[in-house]
Amino acid sequence: MLYIPVFGHAVVVADPQLVRQIFTSSPEDLGNISPNLGRFFGSGSVFALEGDDHRRRRRLLAPPFHGKSMKRYETIIEEETLREVASWPEGQPFATLPSMMRITLNAILRAVFGAEGTELDELRRLIPPWVTLGSRVAPLPVPARTYGRYTPWGRLAEWRRRYDVVIDKLIEDELADPNFKDRIDVLALLAAGHETTASTLGWAFERLSRHPDVLTALVEEAETEGNELRQAAILEVQRARTVIDFAGRHVYAPVFQLGEWVIPRGYSIVVSIAQMHANGDIFPDPDRFDPQRFIYAKPSNFAWIPFGGGTRRCVGAAFANMEMDVVLRTVLRHFTIETTTAPGEKWHARGVAFTPKDGGRVVVHRR
Ligand code: HEM
Repeated sequence: MLYIPVFGHAVVVADPQLVRQIFTSSPEDLGNISPNLGRFFGSGSVFALEGDDHRRRRRLLAPPFHGKSMKRYETIIEEETLREVASWPEGQPFATLPSMMRITLNAILRAVFGAEGTELDELRRLIPPWVTLGSRVAPLPVPARTYGRYTPWGRLAEWRRRYDVVIDKLIEDELADPNFKDRIDVLALLAAGHETTASTLGWAFERLSRHPDVLTALVEEAETEGNELRQAAILEVQRARTVIDFAGRHVYAPVFQLGEWVIPRGYSIVVSIAQMHANGDIFPDPDRFDPQRFIYAKPSNFAWIPFGGGTRRCVGAAFANMEMDVVLRTVLRHFTIETTTAPGEKWHARGVAFTPKDGGRVVVHRR
């Protein structure tokens, strides 16, 4: 048990049996951890909602993430990747992370939001600094008084205002679409979706450039329509380099019986994702980067948990998976990535997501 300032009393869990219990419990017993990202995206955003409101909002958000929508997005992602990598330098080290941030942001804006033209440009300028600052100050208490323009809170408020202006314009343009208003929660999707996916892709380049055998096999596979190994590699990157290291819940039940423990109402339960992924009983030799472990064995939903689980599981998981698959395939088809014996990059806490400290640096050559 821990006492974490702002979150209060918390228990940390990294056992699949207990995680199963947490992820399958009713949202009336275990709700959203508090405070949460709803403080930035509004009390009406999916991050802040609970119970029926939360269920309804997730249903509204679901359509763009259905499996059948995914195929349509692949072309957009491939286009965005090609546009970005056109300016990659050859023969000298550079960080892939900034490119991945741009690809993933543009991909969501276009695929999920349908933004194009001037609005797309303005959102591209606005969202990256907003998300960076927003996630940095997320755990801090909000000052009670009105915040000045130059404080982080003042800047967040100003960005929020400019974002609303763009969204109002988009709504005006899209009045023909009767369902448009329901898609407003897209800010939550943008923020949650782009940095996490980009960070995982940055790690993918970091890991693959240090594992020549895996890289060679992936290049061969990328020439075909197959993706079994690429999928296994993505799962392994998400296991070995977890970018969101916990999923939190709040105990609403008078007491919550978790395995042999009794957790009182008001406590937080923190599922330690990274600790679970490093558990050698579940993932033998956990420090080894080895996609083979996922080739014949699909991972358990209660042990491989980069997207959290249960009623609050990441709504963008399928989108993120498709996106990472297409970005990697496109890069592997167009570039040779040099391998290196340099030590792995360290972890860097960028805000919500953990990124490779040097931004996933690689040296590439065009094919
Ligand atoms: C590799 C990329 C991603 C990772 C690692 C990731 C991880 C997570 C995690 C750990 C949670 C909390 C789950 C829980 O509490 O059980 C979450 C929630 C969420 N994610 Fe993702 N995510 C990714 C990509 C995306 C994308 C692409 C989108 C949208 C386009 C997205 C939208 C959301 C939303 C809206 C929630 C809140 C769900 C709710 O509270 O009901 N995420 N994500």
